[in-house]
Amino acid sequence: MAAQRIDGKVVAQAVKDELKVKIEGLAKRGIVPGLAVILVGEDPASQAYVGSKERESKKLGIHSEVYRLPAATPQAEVLALVNRLNAKADIHGILVQLPLPDHIDEKAVLNAISPAKDVDGFHPINVGNLSINDTCFVPCTPNGVIRLIESTGAEIKGKNAVVVGRSNIVGKPVAMLLLHRHATVTICHSRTKDLPGVCREADILVVAIGKPAFVTGDWVKEGAVVIDVGINRVGDKLVGDVGYDSAAQKAGYITPVPGGVGPMTIAMLLANTVEAAQR
Ligand code: GUN
Repeated sequence: MAAQRIDGKVVAQAVKDELKVKIEGLAKRGIVPGLAVILVGEDPASQAYVGSKERESKKLGIHSEVYRLPAATPQAEVLALVNRLNAKADIHGILVQLPLPDHIDEKAVLNAISPAKDVDGFHPINVGNLSINDTCFVPCTPNGVIRLIESTGAEIKGKNAVVVGRSNIVGKPVAMLLLHRHATVTICHSRTKDLPGVCREADILVVAIGKPAFVTGDWVKEGAVVIDVGINRVGDKLVGDVGYDSAAQKAGYITPVPGGVGPMTIAMLLANTVEAAQR
């Protein structure tokens, strides 16, 4: 049976429609949510992501400030900017686009962001609170993955969820969110034995490893929900970590690339910014 395609643009629009109502509520209290984005250097993918974040913020009526700094900016200057933004009353959310140039210590910069403005959810306070299922900013892509799974109506509780990839940005937080929703969670990585066999046990399969079309249909359990977090440039095309055509023959639901997880990441960033303004 061919899978149903999960349309990330439709789910992201639903998130943004919910946000419009919240933003109107804030306006009545004289509050405009404000997001500051710091981009250091000229990485083309990062420039594109930051441009989209700026555009989408403005469309919703979120005040947006983008700080584009040269690649050679000293770390101390980046830290000083973060500290100024921490103190700025009209800025509720701060995001430092990753990766940073090699001479900048990513951890030092992320740790400098006030946890109350850390709309990426990368500060250790938010990471820790996520792991104990307490109030925190949930990282945007993982939060989007959960919304996409929920949009199918498939139950998470009691299901076998397999997460391929163990990054701090996606794999680990996705696994936590699934665990808190009572899935039985397996996190796989490059040293996992019999990765195809583990994936075949998954009712929910989330793939975030950054290898084009790595997971194929013969790894997918009949009827599984497959979420492809990968965005890989192959020639002039964007492809996911999952071979869509073969996986769609087996899955019950599957996200395309592009148009699946991608639109959700920005929607959830805007959601975190609005939440920060509401707090
Ligand atoms: N670079 C790639 N993904 C992300 C993300 O979610 N947040 C930030 N800040 N940088 C990224």
